[in-house]
Amino acid sequence: MPKSKCNGRTLLLAFALLARAWSRHQEALFPLDGRNFTWAMRAYPRMMLFFYAPWCGHSRGVEPEVKKAAELLQGNVAFAKIDASLEVEVAEEFGLSAYPGLFLVQKGGFEEFGGRRAGAAIVDWVRSKVGPALEVVNRTDQLQEAFERRGVHSAVVASGSTGLQEILTRIAEKNRDWGRFYFLKDTDANQVSVLRGLSEFVDAPFEVDIDRQALEPDILSFIQAEKLPVLGEISEENFYHYETSGAEALLWVIFANNTGLPCWADQCRQQAQEHQKSLRSIATEFPQIKVRTKCVVEKVLG
Ligand SMILES: *[C@@H]1O[C@H](CO)[C@@H](O)[C@H](O)[C@H]1NC(C)=O
Ligand SMILES: *[C@@H]1O[C@H](CO)[C@@H](O)[C@H](O)[C@H]1NC(C)=O
Ligand SMILES: *[C@@H]1O[C@H](CO)[C@@H](O)[C@H](O)[C@H]1NC(C)=O
Repeated sequence: MPKSKCNGRTLLLAFALLARAWSRHQEALFPLDGRNFTWAMRAYPRMMLFFYAPWCGHSRGVEPEVKKAAELLQGNVAFAKIDASLEVEVAEEFGLSAYPGLFLVQKGGFEEFGGRRAGAAIVDWVRSKVGPALEVVNRTDQLQEAFERRGVHSAVVASGSTGLQEILTRIAEKNRDWGRFYFLKDTDANQVSVLRGLSEFVDAPFEVDIDRQALEPDILSFIQAEKLPVLGEISEENFYHYETSGAEALLWVIFANNTGLPCWADQCRQQAQEHQKSLRSIATEFPQIKVRTKCVVEKVLG
């Protein structure tokens, strides 16, 4: 008689089925405590954990944004919230040092979300971590919409044939951390560009001919060389790229509003647009300095 087994695998399957059945009724952002946390970790291959404290104003402010993101990603990524003021041990496991905290848990590891705590930014970040590395769109308006979601990230934008799409898929999968990758389906001309900073487009300086042997390495070196803008916004999300860019120096420009206080991100971006021309001309005078200007954002101000 065959023995019925209950190894890790069947247990996992049971968890997954249970989770699926249960998730039909659940809220998009559901509560967990120290006891059912372990269960949820097994049941969901990917989960965003939101640590909060009920008395913390920042937590209360961020929760509706997390909920928005949870609703938009429902069915793809589970979103759970944990009262870290009660579940101290769980919070410690994640090295939580302040409320609120937002973590993506997948493949046995976790990663903290460090970007702007707005629903759209959270969705974009989660998608960049779990979704397809190359976002394929059919129309230019969808592409435009994707550009608006990219936040401070540089993007590779390509369009053309299926052959080029395959090449870009490989590049995107290996370089997820680099930024965003978009592909516009279009059977006409093959094109590859880098979009960076304040709507700065740089086209590949070679012919994008998919029959050429060296096309993939050429695209790779092109995006490596062009990923950082001459004038761009810096935040926790992209600071790493600046740190590792090998630039000799960075010139930081901090904008203030008419009260003399450092301004909010939107005002700041507007001012960066207004001063774009003069900042760029400073940049061209110092070619040995790779990245010259920055726009301070709300994150830096805390
Ligand atoms: C976990 O337990 C808490 C109560 O201790 C409950 O409120 C919550 O709904 C439970 N979550 C799940 C996913 O069962
Ligand atoms: C693009 O079109 C294909 C097939 O026509 C469709 O499956 C896909 O969902 C579309 N993509 C978007 C982003 O609309
Ligand atoms: C200037 O920015 C500060 C935030 O740093 C904000 O509180 C204030 O309302 C802003 N003032 C104006 C006039 O925009």
